[in-house]
Amino acid sequence: MSSFSRIAVILRDGQPGQTVDVRGWVRTKRESKGEFAFLEVNDGSCFGNLQLIVDGNVPDYAALMKEIGTGASIHAVGEVKESPGKGQRIEVHVRSLRVLGTADPATYPLQKKGHSFEFLREKAHLRARTNSLGAVARVRNAICFAIHEFYQSRGFLYVHTPVITTSDCEGAGQLFQVTTLDLARLAALKQEQGKPVEIDYGQDFFGKKAGLTVSGQLEGETYACALGDIYTFGPTFRAENSNTTRHLSEFWMVEPEMAFYELDDNMQLAEDFVKFVIRAVLEKCPDDLKFFNERIEPTLLASLENIVSHEFIRLTYTEAVDILEKSGRTFEYPIAWGKDLQSEHERYLTEEHFKQPVILTDYPRAIKSFYMRCNADGKTVRAMDVLVPRIGEIIGGSQREERYDVLVDRMRESHLNPDDYWWYLELRKYGTVPHSGFGLGLERTVQLITGMQNIRDCIPFPRTPKSADF
Ligand code: 4AD
Ligand code: MG
Repeated sequence: MSSFSRIAVILRDGQPGQTVDVRGWVRTKRESKGEFAFLEVNDGSCFGNLQLIVDGNVPDYAALMKEIGTGASIHAVGEVKESPGKGQRIEVHVRSLRVLGTADPATYPLQKKGHSFEFLREKAHLRARTNSLGAVARVRNAICFAIHEFYQSRGFLYVHTPVITTSDCEGAGQLFQVTTLDLARLAALKQEQGKPVEIDYGQDFFGKKAGLTVSGQLEGETYACALGDIYTFGPTFRAENSNTTRHLSEFWMVEPEMAFYELDDNMQLAEDFVKFVIRAVLEKCPDDLKFFNERIEPTLLASLENIVSHEFIRLTYTEAVDILEKSGRTFEYPIAWGKDLQSEHERYLTEEHFKQPVILTDYPRAIKSFYMRCNADGKTVRAMDVLVPRIGEIIGGSQREERYDVLVDRMRESHLNPDDYWWYLELRKYGTVPHSGFGLGLERTVQLITGMQNIRDCIPFPRTPKSADF
């Protein structure tokens, strides 16, 4: 137990007459003619600030007031009193105060309120001290807790899949390479020889070409095909040159994988999961969500309530394309059967046509990954994407191809070498079972639940093309 109280606890439980020991950062200071001062203090434990009243009689008052400004860290001891002012139930009348660290107003970047999120991204080491990024951090934490709670309460095993891998799960060539080969030496050799140098990955650290994982799914399937219901939850990397408000080069993905599940079971789990997480955050972070609703996205609470209180619409890709074609809308990317949906199409379906989340199934096989189960029509696969208002795709998943021969054919069709996936194929050779799974992007979920416009503000230190500072 610490000897001091977090501000969340004081604001919730503090009773008049109680002595409290407070430590935190000053958000604002207002002085009244050298007689007393108000300090708004925050310690990150909750959205609200604690109001401290420092009387002129407090030891060293004048010197302290000179040192204290926005951003300074302080330690105060005082008595809780009912607050006559508006906006807070209680305040603390300070008996003793000391400064732990000053923050020079001439250089401290977070002086005024209302900095742009672009500006704050350049101050990623300090931005968690702002109302909005502090609230994002608390909501993100509540989401992660709810994710584990959901799967643990259903008996799923948490499995750690590797970060370094030699197989490209999505087969899309978006792996960041991991190597200890001396690139400078290879470049020099190339210059000496005047021709490209043949790289021998046998000499590389792992004896073959390796990269950072784009998904833990393939390894996850091996555990599901032994233990039943599992989930992985970890960092995921994609060297995809997408500069959008919904893409990161490093993000976190939750990937449940279930033996004996077919696509309908998979869809039901995904829907229950999304609703569970939203309900948990609504319950756990009401103050943070109220702030987001008031200051960031005015439709936030209504849209979250709408998501948890309706069944997700389920329809096929083919039906969705039909709706889009008949919409009379001119899209930036015209839609036709066989094309991948763009975010404008996903948003049209969820925001305008259905006005709620939809699960699209049975996409054309040519645009989906090799591991998805082939339908008898020869044209589509048992894919499912969950699309939500404001974001578009939040979950991608499928029933997996469990038939050995069909899977080998699909790998060849996708220009993958079945030898590279020999262990994955053996799951289909020895005791194969129908199974399914999906991946939910954590940061897109944070975006959905906070209403934040840009995914870069939904992870503490975003990695995007040309940007990996901090
Ligand atoms: O649809 P994706 O690519 O599916 C997979 O990786 C499957 N292997 C998952 C599975 O079946 N186990 O990605 C899943 C989700 C997307 O719906 C999206 O929410 C998120 O991961 N995602 C990204 N989030 C942020 N930045 C990116 N670059 C993302 N790429 C995917
Ligand atoms: Mg996808």
